[in-house]
Amino acid sequence: MKKIEAIIKPFKLEDVKDALIEAGIEGMTISEVKGYGRQQGHSELYRGAEYVIEFIPKVKIEIVVSTQEYADIAVNTIKEAALTGKIGDGKIFVSDINHVVRIRTGEEDEEAL
Ligand SMILES: Nc1ncnc2c1ncn2[C@@H]1O[C@H](COP(=O)(O)OP(=O)(O)OP(=O)(O)O)[C@@H](O)[C@H]1O
Ligand SMILES: [Mg+2]
Repeated sequence: MKKIEAIIKPFKLEDVKDALIEAGIEGMTISEVKGYGRQQGHSELYRGAEYVIEFIPKVKIEIVVSTQEYADIAVNTIKEAALTGKIGDGKIFVSDINHVVRIRTGEEDEEAL
């Protein structure tokens, strides 16, 4: 099982969510986060203004899928839907997940996704 964590520009959330649902991705978690990349927040525009502080608002999307194939689909979908071509478009991290439990039924791992 794989976890995809994507940090994207907040205004891209709707486009990315719609594209993921279209691609067959069923569950996801969204958080409002703040962060910076290699420009350290200094030269990135957010809502037309140059941020003078270091942390810029972003949205984090977390998705756990059963197979590498679905992980690739999720990554490619996010990559396309979140792209503006400007700095700060975000980043996608993929990692292994060892164990999943669906609380209601007690199902585990792939059965629980
Ligand atoms: N190495 C990292 N570890 C954890 N989070 C990161 C890392 N790099 C970026 N992020 C997160 O992703 C967000 C967007 O990063 P960003 O797109 O600016 O990356 P970048 O490497 O600076 O690329 P770009 O040159 O396109 O701006 C950051 O605000 C931060 O929340
Ligand atoms: Mg950056």
